[in-house]
Amino acid sequence: MIEHTGIDSRRLSRRANAIGESTTLAIAAEAKRMQADGIHVVSFSTGEPDFPTPELVKHAGIEAIEANFTRYVQAEGIPELRRAVAEKFRTLNDIQTDPQHVLISAGGKQSLANALLAVVDEGDEVLLPTPYWTSYPDLVKISGGVPVLLKTTVGDRYKITPAQIQAALTPRTRAIILNTPSNPTGVMYTREEIEAIGRVIANAGIYVIADELYERIVFDGRRHFSIGSMPELRDLAVTVNGVSKAYAMTGWRIGYMCGPADVIAAAARLQSQMTSHPCTISMKAAYAALTRVTDEVETMRAAFQRRRDLISGLMQEIPGISFPHPDGAFYLFVDVSAHLGERFAADTDLARYLLQEHHIATVPGSAFGDSTAIRLSYACSDEDIVEGVARIRRGLS
Ligand SMILES: Cc1ncc(COP(=O)(O)O)c(C=O)c1O
Repeated sequence: MIEHTGIDSRRLSRRANAIGESTTLAIAAEAKRMQADGIHVVSFSTGEPDFPTPELVKHAGIEAIEANFTRYVQAEGIPELRRAVAEKFRTLNDIQTDPQHVLISAGGKQSLANALLAVVDEGDEVLLPTPYWTSYPDLVKISGGVPVLLKTTVGDRYKITPAQIQAALTPRTRAIILNTPSNPTGVMYTREEIEAIGRVIANAGIYVIADELYERIVFDGRRHFSIGSMPELRDLAVTVNGVSKAYAMTGWRIGYMCGPADVIAAAARLQSQMTSHPCTISMKAAYAALTRVTDEVETMRAAFQRRRDLISGLMQEIPGISFPHPDGAFYLFVDVSAHLGERFAADTDLARYLLQEHHIATVPGSAFGDSTAIRLSYACSDEDIVEGVARIRRGLS
């Protein structure tokens, strides 16, 4: 990792100076250092499925290499993948789109960056329900925008209300980023909640960038509802997704989005100048994932649901903490405010103490804009869950 020393900020652009180091990566790096020293660290800090990429997807990648599918292609992504993505949006999300309104990018993160760069001008405000996914504020700043945080609490199950959005609107409000199921809270908005939020957004005429990376990891028979399927948001909704979480393909770097024709065309122009297009081999693999993988998605979903039950059951027995029972994704966002104050000044002190003294890696809530909590990822084995929770219990007792 590159050290951000900040010795002479004049050597760098204002934009670069405004971007922070990833806190999640900093804690993970410390955990890795300890592991390298022979310490058995249990990691609740991972942000990716612990499953391998499905076999047929790996083979599609190998076949692409062997067929020499290794040259430049269209900036928007290969036509067959854009067709498969449009078909997926239509059938699974009820979003009436077509391949011309789909852009393939190098990960959901690049899709989000492209969407923001396409619609946000210098000084424009972007509403972020908080706790937010860690990269949103920096992505907004890179696009020249100003992040506006809409705070929620564990008592609200960390969900914003339509009234909060309404109250935050100003003439400079340009967009809102809505993430459901949520990283870091695991909470999902119901269809009714999304429709009520969608009506406020439509009336305000602002863009909604819907981050649906975790839509396939949902529990207890819940169904994810896409805000982009609302007819009144046809010209305002950009829906972002990808293969990283659903198919255990984080390293392949394929994300995608659909949205209004002008926004997608602008995002494609930006992408064509910055990265050309994502890796051709990965696009072939993503096509195989979207069109041919069936069982593995359900196997992983079921495993995460079982682990959700295990970790939340164990954590509930620890006094002085609270968290919403997760509806999806693979995170638990635990309010630890009762432990902050005298013993630990901040969430980061608590997370560092848990790591250094009890060898359990968590992520401080301030990485997600809420310094009263810590995030636990349960993308790990049952044994690690049991041992990790025992260490947290000892640490907090
Ligand atoms: C909510 C959310 N959005 C987007 C991403 C980025 O996904 P990708 O790996 O496809 O860039 C992540 C990854 O952690 C995420 O948690």
